[in-house]
Amino acid sequence: MRARNDSPIPQILVAYFSLSGNTRRVAELIHSLVGGDLFEITTVVPYPQDYGEATRIAQAEKSRGFRPQLSSRAENFQASDLIFLGYPNWWGDLPMALYSFMEEYDFSQKTVAPFCAHGGSGMSQTERTVREKLVGARVLPGLAIRGSRVRQSEDNVKAWSRSSKFLD
Ligand SMILES: Cc1cc2nc3c(=O)[nH]c(=O)nc-3n(C[C@H](O)[C@H](O)[C@H](O)COP(=O)(O)O)c2cc1C
Repeated sequence: MRARNDSPIPQILVAYFSLSGNTRRVAELIHSLVGGDLFEITTVVPYPQDYGEATRIAQAEKSRGFRPQLSSRAENFQASDLIFLGYPNWWGDLPMALYSFMEEYDFSQKTVAPFCAHGGSGMSQTERTVREKLVGARVLPGLAIRGSRVRQSEDNVKAWSRSSKFLD
């Protein structure tokens, strides 16, 4: 993000991947609070909605370091200064689609605010992974929201996204 005295209005992108809608709901809330562009990361081969099937596929993809091909392109990525990056916790990790996304774009000089929907594990090691993957980016402290408590977490999301947005 540019310094305040350089440009008072950072360009914001809220990019997220979501299978069952929890991360999407958090992303939409953040977007309604901070503005900018809302972008869904999607894959050419969609994941099954069936939880058991999705977990099996995700585990197999994680164990072989698979990079699914993405079917959406964030046209305004380059112009963005601050990127809210959302994903569900999958097997204590980021979904492989997030690795594809992080490798497809140049995050240097960007500020990244990661947020994660989970079923009890919080962010696991994902915040550290984002930091390690996005060399050259400034990665802000992340936000973990339990998927079943998205609605009750609005105040948390508000406080976090505001602090991320206005950090110098
Ligand atoms: C493939 C898969 C793996 C998951 N692994 C974990 C996990 O390791 N820890 C956890 O807390 N939740 C895990 N979950 C639960 C999701 O993180 C949780 O349901 C989340 O809210 C889903 O977000 P979404 O609705 O945006 O897809 C997993 C879900 C799926 C589908």
